[in-house]
Amino acid sequence: MAYAAFRSIGAYVPSKILSNEDLSKMVDTTDDWITKRTGIKERHIAAENEFTSDMGVKAAQKAIERSGIDKSQIDMVVCATISPDYFCMPSTATVISTKLGLKNITAFDISAACTGFVYILSIAKAFIEAGMKKNVLIIGAEKLSAITDYSDRGTCILFGDGAGAAIISVTDNKDEAIIDIHTGADGEFADLLMTPNGGSGSAHDSLEQEAGSCFMQMKGNETFKVAVKTLTKDVVEILQDNNIQSSEVKHFVPHQANLRIIKAVGDALKLQDEQVVLTVEKYGNTSGASIPMAINDIYESGKLKAGELMLLDAFGGGLTWGSALVPFSPLK
Ligand code: ACO
Repeated sequence: MAYAAFRSIGAYVPSKILSNEDLSKMVDTTDDWITKRTGIKERHIAAENEFTSDMGVKAAQKAIERSGIDKSQIDMVVCATISPDYFCMPSTATVISTKLGLKNITAFDISAACTGFVYILSIAKAFIEAGMKKNVLIIGAEKLSAITDYSDRGTCILFGDGAGAAIISVTDNKDEAIIDIHTGADGEFADLLMTPNGGSGSAHDSLEQEAGSCFMQMKGNETFKVAVKTLTKDVVEILQDNNIQSSEVKHFVPHQANLRIIKAVGDALKLQDEQVVLTVEKYGNTSGASIPMAINDIYESGKLKAGELMLLDAFGGGLTWGSALVPFSPLK
Protein backbone atom coordinates (compact mmCIF):
# COMPACT_ATOMS: atom_id res chain seq x y z
CA MET A 1 0.00 0.00 0.00
CA ALA A 2 1.28 3.47 -0.90
CA TYR A 3 1.02 6.10 1.85
CA ALA A 4 1.74 9.85 1.76
CA ALA A 5 4.38 11.33 4.10
CA PHE A 6 4.87 15.01 4.97
CA ARG A 7 8.63 15.28 4.32
CA SER A 8 9.60 18.95 4.52
CA ILE A 9 8.48 22.54 4.90
CA GLY A 10 9.68 25.93 3.65
CA ALA A 11 8.36 29.48 3.67
CA TYR A 12 9.08 32.97 2.43
CA VAL A 13 8.01 36.31 3.86
CA PRO A 14 8.55 39.59 1.97
CA SER A 15 10.72 42.13 3.80
CA LYS A 16 8.38 45.14 3.84
CA ILE A 17 6.34 45.41 7.04
CA LEU A 18 2.97 47.15 7.33
CA SER A 19 2.33 47.82 11.02
CA ASN A 20 -0.91 48.68 12.81
CA GLU A 21 0.57 52.12 13.32
CA ASP A 22 1.01 52.49 9.51
CA LEU A 23 -2.61 51.39 8.95
CA SER A 24 -3.89 53.91 11.49
CA LYS A 25 -2.55 56.63 9.17
CA MET A 26 -4.43 55.13 6.20
CA VAL A 27 -7.88 54.34 7.70
CA ASP A 28 -9.85 55.20 10.84
CA THR A 29 -8.39 52.55 13.17
CA THR A 30 -5.92 52.16 16.02
CA ASP A 31 -3.18 49.71 17.04
CA ASP A 32 -5.21 49.04 20.19
CA TRP A 33 -8.40 48.12 18.27
CA ILE A 34 -6.60 45.83 15.81
CA THR A 35 -4.57 44.11 18.55
CA LYS A 36 -7.58 43.52 20.81
CA ARG A 37 -9.95 42.34 18.06
CA THR A 38 -7.54 40.29 15.95
CA GLY A 39 -4.18 39.74 17.74
CA ILE A 40 -2.40 41.13 14.65
CA LYS A 41 0.44 43.64 15.18
CA GLU A 42 1.96 43.67 11.70
CA ARG A 43 1.87 41.94 8.31
CA HIS A 44 4.36 41.69 5.43
CA ILE A 45 3.68 43.18 2.02
CA ALA A 46 5.26 42.04 -1.27
CA ALA A 47 7.11 44.52 -3.47
CA GLU A 48 5.23 45.85 -6.49
CA ASN A 49 7.25 43.69 -8.89
CA GLU A 50 7.18 40.64 -6.60
CA PHE A 51 4.46 38.22 -7.69
CA THR A 52 2.72 35.37 -5.91
CA SER A 53 4.82 32.92 -7.97
CA ASP A 54 8.09 34.62 -6.87
CA MET A 55 7.17 34.08 -3.22
CA GLY A 56 6.03 30.53 -4.00
CA VAL A 57 9.37 29.76 -5.69
CA LYS A 58 11.35 30.94 -2.65
CA ALA A 59 9.25 28.85 -0.26
CA ALA A 60 9.46 25.83 -2.58
CA GLN A 61 13.26 26.06 -2.89
CA LYS A 62 13.56 25.73 0.90
CA ALA A 63 11.09 22.82 1.05
CA ILE A 64 12.96 21.01 -1.76
CA GLU A 65 16.38 21.62 -0.13
CA ARG A 66 15.13 20.26 3.20
CA SER A 67 13.33 17.24 1.72
CA GLY A 68 16.39 15.22 0.72
CA ILE A 69 14.64 14.61 -2.61
CA ASP A 70 16.18 15.74 -5.88
CA LYS A 71 13.92 18.20 -7.69
CA SER A 72 13.97 15.96 -10.77
CA GLN A 73 11.88 13.47 -8.74
CA ILE A 74 9.00 15.93 -8.25
CA ASP A 75 6.14 14.83 -10.48
CA MET A 76 3.35 17.22 -9.49
CA VAL A 77 3.05 20.85 -8.34
CA VAL A 78 -0.18 22.17 -6.84
CA CYS A 79 -0.61 25.76 -5.72
CA ALA A 80 -3.37 27.06 -3.45
CA THR A 81 -3.97 30.75 -4.08
CA ILE A 82 -6.71 33.34 -4.38
CA SER A 83 -4.23 35.93 -5.65
CA PRO A 84 -2.68 34.19 -8.68
CA ASP A 85 -0.16 35.96 -10.92
CA TYR A 86 -2.69 35.91 -13.76
CA PHE A 87 -6.45 36.07 -13.60
CA CYS A 88 -7.22 32.99 -15.72
CA MET A 89 -4.04 31.45 -17.09
CA PRO A 90 -1.34 30.32 -16.86
CA SER A 91 -1.77 28.83 -13.42
CA THR A 92 0.61 30.04 -10.72
CA ALA A 93 1.71 26.41 -10.23
CA THR A 94 2.84 26.31 -13.87
CA VAL A 95 4.76 29.58 -13.50
CA ILE A 96 6.42 28.32 -10.29
CA SER A 97 7.35 24.99 -11.92
CA THR A 98 9.03 26.78 -14.83
CA LYS A 99 10.92 29.17 -12.54
CA LEU A 100 12.12 26.13 -10.54
CA GLY A 101 13.20 24.35 -13.74
CA LEU A 102 10.89 21.38 -13.14
CA LYS A 103 10.16 19.16 -16.14
CA ASN A 104 7.66 16.38 -16.81
CA ILE A 105 5.25 17.49 -14.13
CA THR A 106 1.53 17.97 -13.68
CA ALA A 107 0.81 21.51 -12.42
CA PHE A 108 -2.37 23.29 -11.44
CA ASP A 109 -3.89 25.77 -8.97
CA ILE A 110 -6.85 25.35 -6.69
CA SER A 111 -9.07 28.02 -5.15
CA ALA A 112 -10.26 27.28 -1.60
CA ALA A 113 -9.20 30.57 0.04
CA CYS A 114 -7.80 30.10 3.55
CA THR A 115 -8.49 26.34 3.44
CA GLY A 116 -6.30 26.04 0.34
CA PHE A 117 -3.34 24.33 2.01
CA VAL A 118 -5.51 21.61 3.59
CA TYR A 119 -7.16 21.05 0.20
CA ILE A 120 -3.83 20.69 -1.66
CA LEU A 121 -2.53 18.39 1.06
CA SER A 122 -5.57 16.16 0.47
CA ILE A 123 -4.95 16.25 -3.30
CA ALA A 124 -1.29 15.24 -2.84
CA LYS A 125 -2.32 12.42 -0.48
CA ALA A 126 -4.97 11.12 -2.87
CA PHE A 127 -2.68 11.16 -5.95
CA ILE A 128 0.09 9.39 -4.02
CA GLU A 129 -2.18 6.75 -2.47
CA ALA A 130 -3.71 6.09 -5.88
CA GLY A 131 -0.22 5.39 -7.21
CA MET A 132 -0.41 8.23 -9.74
CA LYS A 133 2.37 10.45 -8.28
CA LYS A 134 5.37 9.94 -6.00
CA ASN A 135 6.66 13.36 -4.91
CA VAL A 136 4.27 16.28 -4.85
CA LEU A 137 5.30 19.88 -4.21
CA ILE A 138 2.40 21.77 -2.62
CA ILE A 139 2.50 25.54 -2.24
CA GLY A 140 0.23 28.06 -0.53
CA ALA A 141 1.17 31.49 -1.86
CA GLU A 142 -0.65 34.79 -1.60
CA LYS A 143 -0.18 38.41 -2.59
CA LEU A 144 -3.35 39.47 -0.82
CA SER A 145 -2.22 43.10 -0.84
CA ALA A 146 -3.08 43.03 -4.58
CA ILE A 147 -6.76 42.27 -3.86
CA THR A 148 -7.17 44.24 -0.62
CA ASP A 149 -9.07 47.51 -0.44
CA TYR A 150 -6.85 49.79 1.66
CA SER A 151 -9.75 52.18 2.24
CA ASP A 152 -11.86 49.44 3.97
CA ARG A 153 -10.85 49.21 7.63
CA GLY A 154 -12.89 46.02 8.06
CA THR A 155 -10.57 44.02 5.79
CA CYS A 156 -7.29 45.87 5.20
CA ILE A 157 -6.14 45.37 8.79
CA LEU A 158 -6.31 41.59 8.42
CA PHE A 159 -4.39 40.53 5.35
CA GLY A 160 -0.71 40.05 4.50
CA ASP A 161 1.51 38.42 1.87
CA GLY A 162 3.76 35.35 1.96
CA ALA A 163 4.19 31.75 0.88
CA GLY A 164 4.73 28.29 2.35
CA ALA A 165 5.53 24.99 0.65
CA ALA A 166 5.88 21.31 1.50
CA ILE A 167 7.05 18.10 -0.15
CA ILE A 168 4.67 15.16 0.20
CA SER A 169 6.18 11.82 -0.83
CA VAL A 170 5.22 8.20 -1.19
CA THR A 171 6.17 5.81 1.61
CA ASP A 172 5.32 2.21 2.44
CA ASN A 173 5.75 2.91 6.17
CA LYS A 174 2.30 3.52 7.68
CA ASP A 175 3.82 5.14 10.79
CA GLU A 176 5.09 8.02 8.60
CA ALA A 177 1.81 8.53 6.79
CA ILE A 178 -0.63 11.42 6.89
CA ILE A 179 -3.39 9.94 9.04
CA ASP A 180 -6.54 11.64 7.78
CA ILE A 181 -7.83 14.79 6.07
CA HIS A 182 -11.35 16.21 6.18
CA THR A 183 -12.48 18.87 3.71
CA GLY A 184 -15.83 20.58 3.27
CA ALA A 185 -17.59 23.48 1.56
CA ASP A 186 -20.94 25.30 1.59
CA GLY A 187 -21.68 27.88 -1.09
CA GLU A 188 -24.78 29.04 0.80
CA PHE A 189 -22.40 31.28 2.78
CA ALA A 190 -20.51 32.55 -0.29
CA ASP A 191 -21.53 36.16 0.26
CA LEU A 192 -19.81 36.36 3.66
CA LEU A 193 -16.44 36.62 1.98
CA MET A 194 -15.97 37.22 -1.72
CA THR A 195 -14.42 39.19 -4.55
CA PRO A 196 -17.75 40.00 -6.22
CA ASN A 197 -16.35 41.36 -9.49
CA GLY A 198 -13.84 40.50 -12.15
CA GLY A 199 -15.10 37.06 -13.10
CA SER A 200 -17.57 35.82 -15.71
CA GLY A 201 -20.33 36.29 -13.13
CA SER A 202 -19.87 40.05 -13.04
CA ALA A 203 -20.64 42.81 -15.50
CA HIS A 204 -17.38 43.82 -17.14
CA ASP A 205 -18.61 47.42 -17.38
CA SER A 206 -18.40 47.63 -13.59
CA LEU A 207 -14.65 47.01 -13.74
CA GLU A 208 -14.14 50.16 -15.77
CA GLN A 209 -16.46 52.14 -13.52
CA GLU A 210 -14.85 51.07 -10.29
CA ALA A 211 -11.16 50.14 -10.24
CA GLY A 212 -11.39 48.54 -6.80
CA SER A 213 -14.30 46.27 -7.63
CA CYS A 214 -12.08 43.15 -7.68
CA PHE A 215 -11.10 43.57 -4.04
CA MET A 216 -12.10 41.22 -1.24
CA GLN A 217 -15.29 42.06 0.64
CA MET A 218 -16.19 40.46 3.94
CA LYS A 219 -19.01 40.40 6.48
CA GLY A 220 -16.47 40.06 9.28
CA ASN A 221 -18.68 39.53 12.28
CA GLU A 222 -20.88 36.86 10.64
CA THR A 223 -17.78 35.15 9.21
CA PHE A 224 -16.26 35.12 12.70
CA LYS A 225 -19.23 33.26 14.21
CA VAL A 226 -19.43 30.64 11.43
CA ALA A 227 -15.63 30.20 11.61
CA VAL A 228 -15.60 29.37 15.34
CA LYS A 229 -18.50 26.91 14.99
CA THR A 230 -17.20 25.17 11.88
CA LEU A 231 -13.54 24.95 12.96
CA THR A 232 -14.44 23.49 16.36
CA LYS A 233 -16.85 20.90 14.89
CA ASP A 234 -14.29 19.91 12.26
CA VAL A 235 -11.38 19.25 14.64
CA VAL A 236 -13.57 17.41 17.15
CA GLU A 237 -14.81 15.13 14.33
CA ILE A 238 -11.37 14.32 12.87
CA LEU A 239 -9.99 13.48 16.32
CA GLN A 240 -13.00 11.29 17.15
CA ASP A 241 -12.93 9.51 13.76
CA ASN A 242 -9.31 8.54 14.32
CA ASN A 243 -9.62 7.77 18.03
CA ILE A 244 -6.99 10.39 18.91
CA GLN A 245 -7.13 12.56 22.06
CA SER A 246 -6.35 16.29 21.75
CA SER A 247 -3.55 15.74 24.31
CA GLU A 248 -1.77 13.52 21.73
CA VAL A 249 -1.49 16.46 19.32
CA LYS A 250 1.94 18.05 19.66
CA HIS A 251 1.22 21.06 17.43
CA PHE A 252 -2.22 22.49 16.68
CA VAL A 253 -1.65 24.59 13.54
CA PRO A 254 -4.81 26.58 12.78
CA HIS A 255 -5.31 29.00 9.92
CA GLN A 256 -4.06 32.32 11.29
CA ALA A 257 -7.09 34.58 10.78
CA ASN A 258 -7.80 35.98 14.21
CA LEU A 259 -6.36 35.25 17.66
CA ARG A 260 -9.84 35.19 19.20
CA ILE A 261 -11.02 32.50 16.73
CA ILE A 262 -7.89 30.40 17.43
CA LYS A 263 -8.32 30.75 21.21
CA ALA A 264 -12.01 29.76 21.04
CA VAL A 265 -11.18 26.57 19.11
CA GLY A 266 -8.18 25.81 21.36
CA ASP A 267 -10.36 26.21 24.47
CA ALA A 268 -13.07 23.95 23.02
CA LEU A 269 -10.42 21.25 22.52
CA LYS A 270 -8.90 21.94 25.98
CA LEU A 271 -5.50 22.50 24.39
CA GLN A 272 -2.55 23.82 26.40
CA ASP A 273 -0.99 27.08 25.17
CA GLU A 274 2.22 25.29 24.16
CA GLN A 275 0.24 23.07 21.75
CA VAL A 276 -1.16 26.04 19.79
CA VAL A 277 1.00 27.53 17.01
CA LEU A 278 0.52 31.29 16.65
CA THR A 279 1.96 33.53 13.94
CA VAL A 280 -1.02 35.84 13.41
CA GLU A 281 0.67 38.60 15.41
CA LYS A 282 3.52 39.02 12.90
CA TYR A 283 2.05 37.86 9.56
CA GLY A 284 -1.70 38.59 9.81
CA ASN A 285 -3.97 36.47 7.63
CA THR A 286 -2.09 35.15 4.58
CA SER A 287 -4.96 32.87 3.48
CA GLY A 288 -3.68 29.69 1.76
CA ALA A 289 -0.12 30.45 2.88
CA SER A 290 -0.88 30.81 6.57
CA ILE A 291 -0.69 27.15 7.69
CA PRO A 292 2.59 26.26 5.89
CA MET A 293 4.12 29.57 7.07
CA ALA A 294 3.15 28.63 10.65
CA ILE A 295 4.56 25.09 10.27
CA ASN A 296 7.77 26.62 8.92
CA ASP A 297 7.97 28.86 11.98
CA ILE A 298 7.96 25.91 14.41
CA TYR A 299 10.38 24.02 12.14
CA GLU A 300 12.89 26.90 11.99
CA SER A 301 12.65 27.54 15.73
CA GLY A 302 13.49 23.86 16.38
CA LYS A 303 10.11 23.07 17.93
CA LEU A 304 8.96 20.63 15.23
CA LYS A 305 10.66 17.24 15.51
CA ALA A 306 10.41 14.05 13.46
CA GLY A 307 7.40 11.92 14.35
CA GLU A 308 5.47 14.68 16.10
CA LEU A 309 1.77 14.93 15.34
CA MET A 310 0.33 18.12 13.86
CA LEU A 311 -3.38 18.92 13.72
CA LEU A 312 -4.14 21.43 10.93
CA ASP A 313 -7.43 23.33 10.86
CA ALA A 314 -8.62 25.91 8.35
CA PHE A 315 -11.62 27.95 7.33
CA GLY A 316 -12.11 30.44 4.52
CA GLY A 317 -14.05 31.96 1.66
CA GLY A 318 -16.37 29.73 -0.31
CA LEU A 319 -17.12 28.91 2.44
CA THR A 320 -14.59 26.11 2.78
CA TRP A 321 -13.10 24.27 5.73
CA GLY A 322 -10.76 21.41 6.44
CA SER A 323 -8.61 19.66 9.01
CA ALA A 324 -5.74 17.20 8.85
CA LEU A 325 -3.82 14.87 11.17
CA VAL A 326 -0.24 14.92 9.96
CA PRO A 327 2.90 13.42 11.51
CA PHE A 328 6.07 15.26 10.53
CA SER A 329 8.14 12.64 8.66
CA PRO A 330 11.41 14.09 7.35
CA LEU A 331 13.85 11.82 5.49
CA LYS A 332 16.88 13.45 7.14
N1 ACO B 1 -10.81 49.80 13.49
C1 ACO B 1 -11.72 50.34 14.31
N2 ACO B 1 -13.04 50.01 14.29
C2 ACO B 1 -13.42 49.07 13.41
C3 ACO B 1 -12.52 48.46 12.49
C4 ACO B 1 -11.17 48.87 12.56
N3 ACO B 1 -10.21 48.34 11.77
N4 ACO B 1 -13.18 47.55 11.73
C5 ACO B 1 -14.47 47.58 12.14
N5 ACO B 1 -14.62 48.51 13.14
C6 ACO B 1 -15.83 48.88 13.86
C7 ACO B 1 -17.09 48.57 13.08
O1 ACO B 1 -17.40 49.63 12.19
C8 ACO B 1 -18.10 48.44 14.21
O2 ACO B 1 -18.48 49.74 14.63
P1 ACO B 1 -19.99 50.04 15.12
O3 ACO B 1 -20.20 49.17 16.33
O4 ACO B 1 -19.96 51.49 15.39
O5 ACO B 1 -20.86 49.62 13.96
C9 ACO B 1 -17.29 47.80 15.34
O6 ACO B 1 -15.91 48.07 15.04
C10 ACO B 1 -17.48 46.31 15.47
O7 ACO B 1 -17.37 45.71 14.18
P2 ACO B 1 -17.40 44.16 13.98
O8 ACO B 1 -17.28 43.85 12.51
O9 ACO B 1 -18.57 43.59 14.71
O10 ACO B 1 -16.03 43.75 14.73
P3 ACO B 1 -15.51 42.32 15.11
O11 ACO B 1 -15.26 42.22 16.54
O12 ACO B 1 -16.35 41.23 14.48
O13 ACO B 1 -14.06 42.29 14.40
C11 ACO B 1 -13.04 41.34 12.44
C12 ACO B 1 -13.95 42.44 12.99
C13 ACO B 1 -11.68 41.52 13.04
C14 ACO B 1 -12.99 41.48 10.93
C15 ACO B 1 -13.61 39.95 12.85
O14 ACO B 1 -14.98 39.90 12.58
C16 ACO B 1 -12.95 38.77 12.13
O15 ACO B 1 -11.79 38.47 12.32
N6 ACO B 1 -13.74 38.04 11.32
C17 ACO B 1 -13.32 36.76 10.74
C18 ACO B 1 -12.34 36.91 9.62
C19 ACO B 1 -12.05 35.55 9.05
O16 ACO B 1 -11.76 34.62 9.78
N7 ACO B 1 -12.19 35.38 7.74
C20 ACO B 1 -12.08 34.04 7.17
C21 ACO B 1 -10.81 33.74 6.55
S1 ACO B 1 -10.27 34.96 5.38
C22 ACO B 1 -10.22 34.21 3.80
O17 ACO B 1 -10.75 33.15 3.55
C23 ACO B 1 -9.50 34.98 2.71
